[in-house]
Amino acid sequence: MMTSQEMAARIAELAPWFYPFDLGHGLRTESAIPPEVTGIFETRLEMVNQIVERRFGPRLSEITCLDVGCHEGFYTAAMARKGMRRVVGIDVREMNLRKARFVADAFGLANASFLEGNCEQLRAEEIGQFDLTLFLGVLYHLENPMLCLRNVAGVTRELCVVETQVIDEVEGSTEWGAREWTRPYQGALAVIDESGEFYADNRETGSTPLALAPSPKALLFMLKQAGFRQAEIVPPPAGAYEQHRRGKRVVCAAFK
Ligand SMILES: C[S@@+](CC[C@H](N)C(=O)[O-])C[C@H]1O[C@@H](n2cnc3c(N)ncnc32)[C@H](O)[C@@H]1O
Repeated sequence: MMTSQEMAARIAELAPWFYPFDLGHGLRTESAIPPEVTGIFETRLEMVNQIVERRFGPRLSEITCLDVGCHEGFYTAAMARKGMRRVVGIDVREMNLRKARFVADAFGLANASFLEGNCEQLRAEEIGQFDLTLFLGVLYHLENPMLCLRNVAGVTRELCVVETQVIDEVEGSTEWGAREWTRPYQGALAVIDESGEFYADNRETGSTPLALAPSPKALLFMLKQAGFRQAEIVPPPAGAYEQHRRGKRVVCAAFK
């Protein structure tokens, strides 16, 4: 057990922080994110809670959860604090996981643990399957979103909650081998250059500087192709973060 003084020293040592954690006993982490953006964390949490409670209800204490791209463990800790049987956070950055482990210890969460790993290499044979998977704020940072959705589907037993930035919808059709042969688009993926942030050691980007961001239609089609039986975009609650309200970020419930 750490004393409050030791915890305060550790909070300072691990700074900067992405999330504003309230660790009790007057101990808080200061989020480096502008205050007008931090509302995104609560909106995601409110939506995840609503989806998860609707699906698992009284089974909540029996289920297992994998939080893919868990960062400092904000959602891992939140799920563990709801009393889920076992919650595992996985992230490609060990420096994020150091904070996540500290937070879980500070909350006394014996049911939370963390692993370093890349969702490009996530395998059920290695990590097992989880009743619930969270894939929040990660997809649009990846250069292989389809591969990662397949991997996430492979480790999901029942429900995956995906949250992502989406590009404006792109609709149309393209020639496909001959002038008179055409195919419709199933949405689109935008190529995004994140090299500025990536090479500046930003802790939120993907594991490479190239990102492919989906449109809503592309996201739903890709989720089906990844192996989810049903996928739906969940409407944001009243008072949601402004990007969710405007449909620029979406939360999707995908069922196996
Ligand atoms: C924008 S943050 C989102 C964090 C958290 N899930 C949330 O919703 O607040 C993206 C996180 O995913 C991690 N990440 C990025 N690419 C990854 C990958 N290929 N495999 C695993 N984690 C990854 C980053 O290190 C970072 O912690």
